[in-house]
Amino acid sequence: MALTVLPPLSLYIHVPWCIKKCPYCDFNSHEIKSEINESLFIDALLTDFQYQLPRIWGRPIRSIFIGGGTPSVLAPESFDRLISGIRSLITLIPGAEITLEANPGTFETDKFLGFKEAGINRLSLGIQSLNNRLLKVIGRIHDREQALFAISQARAIFDNLNCDLMYGLPNQTHQEALDDLIALLRFQPDHISFYQLTIEPNTYFYKFPPVLPEQDHIAALENDIYSLLKEHHFNHYEVSAYAQQGKCSQHNLNYWMFGDYVGIGPGAHGKISFPDKVIRTAKIKHPTNYLNLIDQQEDIEETHVVDPESIPFEFMMNALRLNEGFALSLFEERTGLSIDSIQSTLSLAEEKQFIRIKENHLIPTELGRHFLNDLISLFLND
Ligand SMILES: C[S@@+](CC[C@H](N)C(=O)[O-])C[C@H]1O[C@@H](n2cnc3c(N)ncnc32)[C@H](O)[C@@H]1O
Ligand code: SF4
Repeated sequence: MALTVLPPLSLYIHVPWCIKKCPYCDFNSHEIKSEINESLFIDALLTDFQYQLPRIWGRPIRSIFIGGGTPSVLAPESFDRLISGIRSLITLIPGAEITLEANPGTFETDKFLGFKEAGINRLSLGIQSLNNRLLKVIGRIHDREQALFAISQARAIFDNLNCDLMYGLPNQTHQEALDDLIALLRFQPDHISFYQLTIEPNTYFYKFPPVLPEQDHIAALENDIYSLLKEHHFNHYEVSAYAQQGKCSQHNLNYWMFGDYVGIGPGAHGKISFPDKVIRTAKIKHPTNYLNLIDQQEDIEETHVVDPESIPFEFMMNALRLNEGFALSLFEERTGLSIDSIQSTLSLAEEKQFIRIKENHLIPTELGRHFLNDLISLFLND
Protein backbone atom coordinates (compact mmCIF):
# COMPACT_ATOMS: atom_id res chain seq x y z
CA MET A 1 0.00 0.00 0.00
CA ALA A 2 1.05 3.61 -0.58
CA LEU A 3 -1.15 6.45 0.62
CA THR A 4 -0.68 9.71 -1.25
CA VAL A 5 -2.99 11.66 1.09
CA LEU A 6 -3.47 10.89 4.79
CA PRO A 7 -7.12 10.56 5.90
CA PRO A 8 -8.91 13.13 8.09
CA LEU A 9 -8.09 12.71 11.77
CA SER A 10 -10.42 12.73 14.77
CA LEU A 11 -10.02 12.13 18.50
CA TYR A 12 -11.91 9.68 20.71
CA ILE A 13 -11.72 10.10 24.49
CA HIS A 14 -13.03 7.34 26.76
CA VAL A 15 -14.48 8.02 30.22
CA PRO A 16 -14.88 4.57 31.79
CA TRP A 17 -17.32 5.17 34.68
CA CYS A 18 -21.08 4.85 35.15
CA ILE A 19 -23.33 5.23 38.16
CA LYS A 20 -24.66 1.71 37.61
CA LYS A 21 -23.87 -0.97 35.04
CA CYS A 22 -26.78 -1.71 32.66
CA PRO A 23 -27.47 -5.46 32.17
CA TYR A 24 -27.14 -5.29 28.35
CA CYS A 25 -23.95 -3.24 28.16
CA ASP A 26 -20.51 -4.58 27.24
CA PHE A 27 -18.79 -1.21 26.93
CA ASN A 28 -15.67 -0.64 29.03
CA SER A 29 -17.65 0.94 31.87
CA HIS A 30 -17.22 0.45 35.60
CA GLU A 31 -19.53 1.36 38.45
CA ILE A 32 -18.27 4.28 40.48
CA LYS A 33 -17.27 2.80 43.85
CA SER A 34 -15.46 5.80 45.34
CA GLU A 35 -14.96 9.43 44.42
CA ILE A 36 -13.19 9.90 41.07
CA ASN A 37 -10.03 12.01 41.23
CA GLU A 38 -11.01 14.01 38.16
CA SER A 39 -7.92 16.16 38.14
CA LEU A 40 -5.66 13.09 38.06
CA PHE A 41 -7.77 11.56 35.28
CA ILE A 42 -7.60 14.68 33.09
CA ASP A 43 -3.80 14.82 33.65
CA ALA A 44 -3.60 11.18 32.53
CA LEU A 45 -5.67 11.85 29.37
CA LEU A 46 -3.43 14.78 28.44
CA THR A 47 -0.31 12.67 29.01
CA ASP A 48 -1.84 9.91 26.87
CA PHE A 49 -2.56 12.46 24.13
CA GLN A 50 1.00 13.79 24.28
CA TYR A 51 2.32 10.27 23.63
CA GLN A 52 0.34 10.23 20.37
CA LEU A 53 1.67 13.52 19.03
CA PRO A 54 4.78 12.18 17.21
CA ARG A 55 2.43 9.95 15.16
CA ILE A 56 0.26 12.83 13.96
CA TRP A 57 2.57 15.84 13.59
CA GLY A 58 1.09 18.59 11.46
CA ARG A 59 -2.35 17.02 11.15
CA PRO A 60 -5.36 18.95 12.52
CA ILE A 61 -8.16 17.31 14.52
CA ARG A 62 -11.56 17.46 12.81
CA SER A 63 -13.85 16.18 15.56
CA ILE A 64 -13.72 15.03 19.17
CA PHE A 65 -16.04 12.43 20.71
CA ILE A 66 -16.06 12.02 24.49
CA GLY A 67 -17.76 8.68 25.07
CA GLY A 68 -18.09 6.08 27.71
CA GLY A 69 -19.19 4.94 30.09
CA THR A 70 -20.95 8.09 31.14
CA PRO A 71 -18.75 11.15 30.61
CA SER A 72 -21.47 13.37 32.10
CA VAL A 73 -20.55 12.06 35.58
CA LEU A 74 -17.51 14.39 35.42
CA ALA A 75 -17.65 18.12 36.17
CA PRO A 76 -17.71 20.80 33.43
CA GLU A 77 -14.43 22.20 34.81
CA SER A 78 -12.73 18.90 33.96
CA PHE A 79 -13.83 19.12 30.31
CA ASP A 80 -12.81 22.75 30.22
CA ARG A 81 -9.29 21.78 31.26
CA LEU A 82 -9.24 18.77 28.93
CA ILE A 83 -10.40 20.67 25.83
CA SER A 84 -8.12 23.66 26.54
CA GLY A 85 -5.21 21.26 27.09
CA ILE A 86 -5.86 19.55 23.75
CA ARG A 87 -6.20 22.89 21.95
CA SER A 88 -2.80 23.91 23.33
CA LEU A 89 -1.20 20.77 21.86
CA ILE A 90 -2.82 20.51 18.42
CA THR A 91 -4.93 22.48 15.93
CA LEU A 92 -8.66 21.84 16.04
CA ILE A 93 -10.30 22.87 12.75
CA PRO A 94 -12.69 25.86 13.19
CA GLY A 95 -16.16 24.67 14.19
CA ALA A 96 -14.91 21.14 14.95
CA GLU A 97 -17.74 18.94 16.26
CA ILE A 98 -17.16 18.13 19.95
CA THR A 99 -19.65 15.54 21.25
CA LEU A 100 -20.23 14.47 24.85
CA GLU A 101 -22.24 11.37 25.80
CA ALA A 102 -24.62 11.87 28.70
CA ASN A 103 -27.09 9.87 30.76
CA PRO A 104 -30.41 11.56 31.68
CA GLY A 105 -29.92 10.29 35.26
CA THR A 106 -26.96 12.69 35.61
CA PHE A 107 -28.82 15.71 34.25
CA GLU A 108 -28.59 19.06 36.02
CA THR A 109 -29.26 22.18 33.98
CA ASP A 110 -26.29 24.18 35.31
CA LYS A 111 -23.92 21.30 34.75
CA PHE A 112 -24.99 20.93 31.13
CA LEU A 113 -24.73 24.69 30.58
CA GLY A 114 -21.18 24.28 31.92
CA PHE A 115 -20.46 21.54 29.36
CA LYS A 116 -21.45 23.95 26.60
CA GLU A 117 -19.24 26.68 28.09
CA ALA A 118 -16.36 24.19 28.13
CA GLY A 119 -16.67 23.82 24.34
CA ILE A 120 -19.02 20.84 23.92
CA ASN A 121 -21.19 21.67 20.88
CA ARG A 122 -23.03 18.35 20.41
CA LEU A 123 -24.76 16.37 23.14
CA SER A 124 -25.62 12.69 22.84
CA LEU A 125 -28.24 11.61 25.37
CA GLY A 126 -28.70 7.91 26.15
CA ILE A 127 -32.50 7.72 26.37
CA GLN A 128 -32.98 4.03 25.37
CA SER A 129 -36.73 4.06 26.12
CA LEU A 130 -39.42 6.32 27.51
CA ASN A 131 -41.45 3.50 28.99
CA ASN A 132 -41.11 3.15 32.77
CA ARG A 133 -41.63 -0.62 32.78
CA LEU A 134 -38.94 -1.15 30.13
CA LEU A 135 -36.54 1.35 31.69
CA LYS A 136 -36.68 -0.77 34.85
CA VAL A 137 -36.20 -4.03 32.95
CA ILE A 138 -33.08 -2.69 31.21
CA GLY A 139 -31.70 -1.41 34.51
CA ARG A 140 -31.63 2.31 33.73
CA ILE A 141 -31.02 4.80 36.54
CA HIS A 142 -33.65 7.24 35.20
CA ASP A 143 -37.40 7.11 34.61
CA ARG A 144 -39.52 8.59 31.80
CA GLU A 145 -40.01 11.93 33.59
CA GLN A 146 -36.28 12.44 34.10
CA ALA A 147 -35.57 11.48 30.50
CA LEU A 148 -38.19 13.92 29.16
CA PHE A 149 -36.87 16.69 31.38
CA ALA A 150 -33.28 16.05 30.23
CA ILE A 151 -34.31 16.05 26.54
CA SER A 152 -36.26 19.30 26.81
CA GLN A 153 -33.45 21.08 28.69
CA ALA A 154 -30.74 19.68 26.43
CA ARG A 155 -32.79 20.77 23.39
CA ALA A 156 -32.80 24.33 24.73
CA ILE A 157 -29.04 24.32 25.44
CA PHE A 158 -27.49 22.53 22.46
CA ASP A 159 -27.89 23.33 18.74
CA ASN A 160 -26.86 19.80 17.93
CA LEU A 161 -28.61 17.06 19.91
CA ASN A 162 -28.51 13.31 19.42
CA CYS A 163 -30.67 10.86 21.34
CA ASP A 164 -29.93 7.10 21.55
CA LEU A 165 -33.01 4.86 21.54
CA MET A 166 -33.18 1.06 21.57
CA TYR A 167 -35.86 -1.28 20.18
CA GLY A 168 -36.43 -5.01 20.44
CA LEU A 169 -36.37 -4.70 24.24
CA PRO A 170 -37.54 -7.60 26.47
CA ASN A 171 -41.26 -8.20 25.79
CA GLN A 172 -41.53 -4.80 24.09
CA THR A 173 -44.61 -4.53 21.88
CA HIS A 174 -44.60 -2.97 18.43
CA GLN A 175 -46.68 -0.05 19.70
CA GLU A 176 -44.47 0.54 22.74
CA ALA A 177 -41.42 0.93 20.49
CA LEU A 178 -43.28 3.36 18.20
CA ASP A 179 -44.63 5.30 21.20
CA ASP A 180 -41.05 5.89 22.38
CA LEU A 181 -40.11 7.28 19.00
CA ILE A 182 -43.25 9.44 18.71
CA ALA A 183 -42.65 10.94 22.18
CA LEU A 184 -39.02 11.67 21.32
CA LEU A 185 -39.85 13.26 17.96
CA ARG A 186 -41.90 15.97 19.73
CA PHE A 187 -38.59 17.45 20.95
CA GLN A 188 -37.16 17.63 17.43
CA PRO A 189 -33.71 16.14 18.06
CA ASP A 190 -31.23 16.69 15.22
CA HIS A 191 -30.07 13.10 15.20
CA ILE A 192 -31.37 9.76 16.44
CA SER A 193 -29.26 6.63 16.89
CA PHE A 194 -31.80 3.82 16.97
CA TYR A 195 -30.23 0.50 17.97
CA GLN A 196 -31.75 -2.96 18.07
CA LEU A 197 -30.90 -4.46 21.47
CA THR A 198 -28.21 -7.10 21.03
CA ILE A 199 -27.29 -9.62 23.68
CA GLU A 200 -23.54 -9.35 24.16
CA PRO A 201 -21.26 -11.89 25.84
CA ASN A 202 -20.02 -10.79 29.28
CA THR A 203 -23.27 -9.09 30.18
CA TYR A 204 -25.97 -9.93 32.72
CA PHE A 205 -28.48 -10.44 29.88
CA TYR A 206 -26.16 -13.00 28.30
CA LYS A 207 -26.12 -15.02 31.51
CA PHE A 208 -29.85 -14.57 32.17
CA PRO A 209 -31.39 -14.08 28.71
CA PRO A 210 -34.64 -12.10 28.66
CA VAL A 211 -37.47 -12.90 26.23
CA LEU A 212 -37.00 -10.77 23.12
CA PRO A 213 -39.50 -10.01 20.34
CA GLU A 214 -39.46 -12.42 17.36
CA GLN A 215 -37.32 -11.43 14.36
CA ASP A 216 -40.47 -11.21 12.13
CA HIS A 217 -41.90 -8.62 14.49
CA ILE A 218 -38.61 -6.72 14.48
CA ALA A 219 -38.62 -6.54 10.67
CA ALA A 220 -42.18 -5.13 10.65
CA LEU A 221 -41.22 -2.66 13.38
CA GLU A 222 -38.16 -1.50 11.46
CA ASN A 223 -40.38 -0.70 8.45
CA ASP A 224 -42.61 1.48 10.60
CA ILE A 225 -39.59 3.15 12.24
CA TYR A 226 -38.09 4.01 8.82
CA SER A 227 -41.41 5.44 7.55
CA LEU A 228 -42.03 7.53 10.65
CA LEU A 229 -38.53 8.96 10.64
CA LYS A 230 -38.76 9.67 6.91
CA GLU A 231 -42.04 11.55 7.45
CA HIS A 232 -40.17 13.67 9.97
CA HIS A 233 -37.43 14.47 7.40
CA PHE A 234 -34.75 12.27 8.92
CA ASN A 235 -32.19 10.87 6.50
CA HIS A 236 -31.37 7.23 7.29
CA TYR A 237 -27.69 7.50 6.41
CA GLU A 238 -26.18 4.56 8.28
CA VAL A 239 -27.49 1.23 9.63
CA SER A 240 -28.61 2.77 12.97
CA ALA A 241 -28.22 6.52 12.36
CA TYR A 242 -30.83 9.08 11.27
CA ALA A 243 -30.13 12.81 10.84
CA GLN A 244 -31.83 16.04 9.93
CA GLN A 245 -30.21 17.80 6.99
CA GLY A 246 -26.64 18.84 7.79
CA LYS A 247 -26.68 17.03 11.16
CA CYS A 248 -24.97 13.72 10.39
CA SER A 249 -22.40 12.83 13.05
CA GLN A 250 -19.14 14.11 11.60
CA HIS A 251 -17.16 11.99 14.03
CA ASN A 252 -18.92 8.74 13.19
CA LEU A 253 -18.87 9.52 9.46
CA ASN A 254 -15.10 9.68 9.73
CA TYR A 255 -15.07 6.11 11.17
CA TRP A 256 -17.40 4.88 8.45
CA MET A 257 -15.31 6.52 5.74
CA PHE A 258 -12.22 4.74 7.09
CA GLY A 259 -10.71 7.93 8.47
CA ASP A 260 -8.07 8.04 11.20
CA TYR A 261 -8.64 8.53 14.91
CA VAL A 262 -6.51 8.81 17.97
CA GLY A 263 -8.01 7.01 20.98
CA ILE A 264 -7.13 8.09 24.51
CA GLY A 265 -8.41 6.92 27.89
CA PRO A 266 -8.90 3.41 29.35
CA GLY A 267 -9.75 0.85 26.65
CA ALA A 268 -9.81 3.43 23.83
CA HIS A 269 -8.94 2.24 20.34
CA GLY A 270 -7.17 4.23 17.63
CA LYS A 271 -6.32 3.89 13.94
CA ILE A 272 -3.52 5.96 12.44
CA SER A 273 -2.34 5.86 8.82
CA PHE A 274 1.16 6.50 7.53
CA PRO A 275 2.18 6.61 3.86
CA ASP A 276 3.20 2.91 3.96
CA LYS A 277 1.16 1.33 6.77
CA VAL A 278 -1.84 1.59 9.09
CA ILE A 279 -1.46 1.02 12.82
CA ARG A 280 -4.10 0.22 15.40
CA THR A 281 -3.71 1.11 19.06
CA ALA A 282 -5.59 -0.14 22.16
CA LYS A 283 -5.26 1.22 25.67
CA ILE A 284 -5.24 -0.84 28.84
CA LYS A 285 -8.88 -1.28 29.88
CA HIS A 286 -9.09 -1.02 33.65
CA PRO A 287 -9.22 2.58 34.90
CA THR A 288 -7.07 1.87 37.99
CA ASN A 289 -4.32 0.19 35.94
CA TYR A 290 -4.50 2.96 33.37
CA LEU A 291 -4.05 5.64 36.03
CA ASN A 292 -1.27 3.72 37.80
CA LEU A 293 0.70 3.00 34.64
CA ILE A 294 0.17 6.24 32.72
CA ASP A 295 3.80 7.32 33.13
CA GLN A 296 4.96 4.57 30.73
CA GLN A 297 3.42 4.66 27.25
CA GLU A 298 4.43 1.04 26.58
CA ASP A 299 2.57 -0.12 29.69
CA ILE A 300 -0.78 1.43 28.78
CA GLU A 301 -0.84 0.78 25.05
CA GLU A 302 -0.70 -2.10 22.61
CA THR A 303 -0.09 -1.32 18.96
CA HIS A 304 0.03 -3.41 15.83
CA VAL A 305 0.47 -2.82 12.13
CA VAL A 306 -2.68 -3.84 10.25
CA ASP A 307 -2.05 -6.77 7.90
CA PRO A 308 -2.19 -5.11 4.43
CA GLU A 309 -4.26 -8.07 3.16
CA SER A 310 -7.09 -7.29 5.58
CA ILE A 311 -7.34 -3.60 4.66
CA PRO A 312 -10.00 -3.97 1.89
CA PHE A 313 -12.18 -5.95 4.31
CA GLU A 314 -11.69 -3.38 7.09
CA PHE A 315 -12.59 -0.57 4.70
CA MET A 316 -15.78 -2.38 3.58
CA MET A 317 -16.78 -3.26 7.16
CA ASN A 318 -17.13 0.47 7.74
CA ALA A 319 -18.06 2.02 4.41
CA LEU A 320 -20.78 -0.51 3.45
CA ARG A 321 -22.74 0.65 6.52
CA LEU A 322 -23.42 3.92 4.69
CA ASN A 323 -26.78 3.74 2.94
CA GLU A 324 -25.68 6.14 0.22
CA GLY A 325 -22.49 4.15 -0.35
CA PHE A 326 -19.25 5.79 -1.41
CA ALA A 327 -17.20 6.92 -4.40
CA LEU A 328 -14.83 4.20 -5.60
CA SER A 329 -12.04 6.80 -5.44
CA LEU A 330 -12.51 6.85 -1.63
CA PHE A 331 -11.45 3.20 -1.50
CA GLU A 332 -8.27 4.03 -3.42
CA GLU A 333 -7.56 7.14 -1.37
CA ARG A 334 -8.03 5.50 2.05
CA THR A 335 -6.45 2.11 1.38
CA GLY A 336 -3.72 3.07 -1.12
CA LEU A 337 -4.92 0.12 -3.26
CA SER A 338 -6.24 0.16 -6.78
CA ILE A 339 -9.93 -0.64 -7.28
CA ASP A 340 -8.74 -3.32 -9.75
CA SER A 341 -7.41 -5.30 -6.78
CA ILE A 342 -11.02 -5.97 -5.61
CA GLN A 343 -12.71 -5.96 -9.03
CA SER A 344 -13.60 -9.67 -9.00
CA THR A 345 -15.31 -9.36 -5.58
CA LEU A 346 -17.16 -6.23 -6.68
CA SER A 347 -18.44 -8.15 -9.73
CA LEU A 348 -19.54 -11.04 -7.50
CA ALA A 349 -21.38 -8.63 -5.14
CA GLU A 350 -23.08 -7.05 -8.17
CA GLU A 351 -24.06 -10.47 -9.50
CA LYS A 352 -25.64 -11.29 -6.14
CA GLN A 353 -27.46 -7.93 -6.38
CA PHE A 354 -25.93 -6.80 -3.08
CA ILE A 355 -24.49 -3.60 -4.62
CA ARG A 356 -24.96 -1.29 -7.60
CA ILE A 357 -22.13 0.66 -9.21
CA LYS A 358 -23.08 3.75 -11.16
CA GLU A 359 -20.78 6.53 -12.31
CA ASN A 360 -17.94 5.21 -10.13
CA HIS A 361 -20.12 5.27 -7.03
CA LEU A 362 -20.96 2.10 -5.07
CA ILE A 363 -24.37 1.82 -3.40
CA PRO A 364 -25.50 -1.17 -1.31
CA THR A 365 -28.93 -2.36 -2.53
CA GLU A 366 -31.81 -3.08 -0.16
CA LEU A 367 -30.87 -6.78 -0.42
CA GLY A 368 -27.22 -5.96 0.36
CA ARG A 369 -28.28 -3.93 3.40
CA HIS A 370 -30.46 -6.78 4.58
CA PHE A 371 -27.59 -9.28 4.25
CA LEU A 372 -24.89 -6.81 5.24
CA ASN A 373 -22.67 -9.35 6.99
CA ASP A 374 -22.75 -11.66 3.96
CA LEU A 375 -21.90 -8.72 1.71
CA ILE A 376 -18.99 -7.57 3.89
CA SER A 377 -17.59 -11.09 4.26
CA LEU A 378 -17.22 -11.37 0.45
CA PHE A 379 -14.23 -9.05 0.89
CA LEU A 380 -12.55 -11.24 3.52
CA ASN A 381 -10.22 -12.87 1.01
CA ASP A 382 -9.29 -9.81 -1.05
C1 LIG B 1 -21.91 4.57 25.97
S1 LIG B 1 -23.62 4.40 25.81
C2 LIG B 1 -24.32 6.10 25.84
C3 LIG B 1 -24.25 7.04 27.03
C4 LIG B 1 -24.63 6.61 28.42
N1 LIG B 1 -23.68 5.67 28.89
C5 LIG B 1 -26.02 6.06 28.55
O1 LIG B 1 -26.17 4.85 28.41
O2 LIG B 1 -26.93 6.83 28.83
C6 LIG B 1 -23.78 4.10 24.08
C7 LIG B 1 -25.09 3.62 23.51
O3 LIG B 1 -24.96 2.31 22.98
C8 LIG B 1 -26.22 1.67 22.95
N2 LIG B 1 -26.04 0.29 23.44
C9 LIG B 1 -25.25 -0.12 24.45
N3 LIG B 1 -25.33 -1.48 24.58
C10 LIG B 1 -26.18 -1.91 23.62
C11 LIG B 1 -26.67 -3.20 23.23
N4 LIG B 1 -26.32 -4.31 23.88
N5 LIG B 1 -27.54 -3.27 22.19
C12 LIG B 1 -27.90 -2.16 21.52
N6 LIG B 1 -27.47 -0.92 21.84
C13 LIG B 1 -26.63 -0.79 22.87
C14 LIG B 1 -27.14 2.46 23.85
O4 LIG B 1 -28.14 3.08 23.07
C15 LIG B 1 -26.22 3.52 24.47
O5 LIG B 1 -26.85 4.76 24.61
S1 SF4 C 1 -25.38 1.76 28.57
FE1 SF4 C 1 -24.36 3.64 29.18
S2 SF4 C 1 -24.98 3.92 31.37
FE2 SF4 C 1 -25.41 1.81 30.87
S3 SF4 C 1 -23.56 0.72 31.54
FE3 SF4 C 1 -23.35 1.13 29.32
S4 SF4 C 1 -22.19 2.97 29.23
FE4 SF4 C 1 -23.01 2.85 31.34
